[in-house]
Amino acid sequence: MNDTYHILTIAGSLRENSSTAHVLRAAEKLGQGTLVFTRYLGLASLPAFDDHEEIPAAVADFKQQIQAADAVLICTPEYAFGVPGALKNALDWTISSGEFVNKPVGLITASTRGESAHASLLLTLSAISAIVPEGASLLVPFIRSKIDAAGNITDWETRRGLSTVIENLVRALQE
Ligand SMILES: Cc1cc2nc3c(=O)[nH]c(=O)nc-3n(C[C@H](O)[C@H](O)[C@H](O)COP(=O)(O)O)c2cc1C
Repeated sequence: MNDTYHILTIAGSLRENSSTAHVLRAAEKLGQGTLVFTRYLGLASLPAFDDHEEIPAAVADFKQQIQAADAVLICTPEYAFGVPGALKNALDWTISSGEFVNKPVGLITASTRGESAHASLLLTLSAISAIVPEGASLLVPFIRSKIDAAGNITDWETRRGLSTVIENLVRALQE
């Protein structure tokens, strides 16, 4: 049985020192040993979605990285009660080409509140036929109060929630 899975991680925030990137780093540490993580760093280089037949190189690279991954783990903040535009734009590029079809996806929304973005992203992931396994989505409100200056997650419940997301993502890959 192949127990080494490749997980592509995507942070919905482009900010340096972003709390969602810190959350992903914590998730990557939890999965060390059994999982190989690759961070997708190209969100800002993706052009705005249009339905042209010619695919820009940055978009082709994004699609290839999704295809190469066994699963995807997204961690995003909420902006203005919605999904950050760069992240939504990236997902829009896959609607007709189907890179997310049947792809297990873990979703963590880590924000001040985050309910709207979380619900909206779950709908988008369903629209692109991604599979969010049971227990592989997590909403973490007040994220900034749960991370210290060094970027470590100080909140026990959040750390436990992250472990659960990873466990359920891996379980879906093993089924
Ligand atoms: C322009 C802007 C709009 C925001 N709107 C919301 C919002 O609607 N809901 C929410 O929960 N947080 C909102 N926030 C707070 C961020 O989601 C929060 O600071 C989050 O931790 C940022 O994530 P990051 O550190 O990964 O960039 C907003 C922040 C900014 C800068």
